[in-house]
Amino acid sequence: MDHVPRLLVINGPNINLLGMREPGIYGTQTYQDLLDSVAAAAAEAGVEVTCFQSNHEGAIVDAIQEARGAIDGIVINPAAYTHTSIAILDALKAVSIPFVEVHISDVASREGFRQVSYIRPYAALTVSGEGIGGYRQAILYLTRLLAHTASIPL
Ligand code: DQA
Repeated sequence: MDHVPRLLVINGPNINLLGMREPGIYGTQTYQDLLDSVAAAAAEAGVEVTCFQSNHEGAIVDAIQEARGAIDGIVINPAAYTHTSIAILDALKAVSIPFVEVHISDVASREGFRQVSYIRPYAALTVSGEGIGGYRQAILYLTRLLAHTASIPL
């Protein structure tokens, strides 16, 4: 890769309410804390990161489509759309950008309807139940993955 890797961090509905939203499940750190920790992880990894949050499925699809040609890796927490959205999966597959799935809570230990993730089979990695620290893990993993992929000759 001839440039600093560019990552896009996408968060879905209600992630903007972190801190006040079900703190027993999602913790007391806010969305601003999440943005700060993503910025720190980007500096640590030596990558550029842009963050995007929306409560709207179509806006998330648009953001994924616009990433084509501009972004090397995606970190995505589709929130409730994880369990429902074929459109978000199709967008990720359409742009062929490697992505890591993140969940703040441990979805495996929650309700049955949260056990389905449309994107998980296609994710390079899923990080779940690590709080907002999961985004740092995702960024470091994607950075290593992109460096490795770039070093394989065609
Ligand atoms: C979540 C888990 C989802 O089941 C839920 O709908 C969310 C957040 C998480 O980060 O733990 O909104 O993706």
